[in-house]
Amino acid sequence: MSSQLREIYGVEFPLINRYVDILASTGVEWGLIGPREAERLWDRHILNSTALSGLIATNSTVADVGSGAGLPGIPLALVRPDLRVTLIEPLLRRSTFLTETVEALGIGDRVKVIRSRAEDHHQSYDAVVARALAPLDRLIGWCNPLRADGGVILALKGKSASAEVEAARGQLQAAGLGAEVLSVQAHPVAEPATVIRLSAST
Ligand SMILES: C[S@@+](CC[C@H](N)C(=O)[O-])C[C@H]1O[C@@H](n2cnc3c(N)ncnc32)[C@H](O)[C@@H]1O
Repeated sequence: MSSQLREIYGVEFPLINRYVDILASTGVEWGLIGPREAERLWDRHILNSTALSGLIATNSTVADVGSGAGLPGIPLALVRPDLRVTLIEPLLRRSTFLTETVEALGIGDRVKVIRSRAEDHHQSYDAVVARALAPLDRLIGWCNPLRADGGVILALKGKSASAEVEAARGQLQAAGLGAEVLSVQAHPVAEPATVIRLSAST
């Protein structure tokens, strides 16, 4: 797997590997990553997060809402140095971890950490990304105000994606959003990730 990961991530591999080491050490010590997750960081977290890369336009501003330990925002920033990423996280311990991690990785010029709830943050972004944040109906209420005109919301989801879209029909219509359920991969050998893409309905 390690040689495949080097092939997938090329020159970015060493820095992503450094982030994985931080998650497996400080992330576990601080209780942000379960001890059993430490063995599955590449499969379940890094490849899953970077699967969004192909859905984000060049030079976009990106908000990662409910970033937790930095997922998916930090892996995206590492594979896409053209992006300007803001990690939004309300909890003190998590936002402190994010600030220290961004500094340790030397990516402070393109990744900002904001300690806030989404609903108290008032800026707009070309792409608003979220993983394991909330059911789609609540996620729309938090993320849509942060979406710039013409921007997208990309929610990494599991098998429930289509059912969540059905359950959120009312909110989608009220917000003027269309939804697509997509299956995307960081690389042809990686597990597909399910993404709900929301954008202005035409
Ligand atoms: C289950 S964790 C997921 C963390 C990360 N995205 C991941 O995939 O590992 C959900 C995160 O959302 C944050 N959160 C909860 N309510 C929020 C809100 N209103 N605005 C922004 N973040 C919120 C929590 O503090 C938590 O870190």
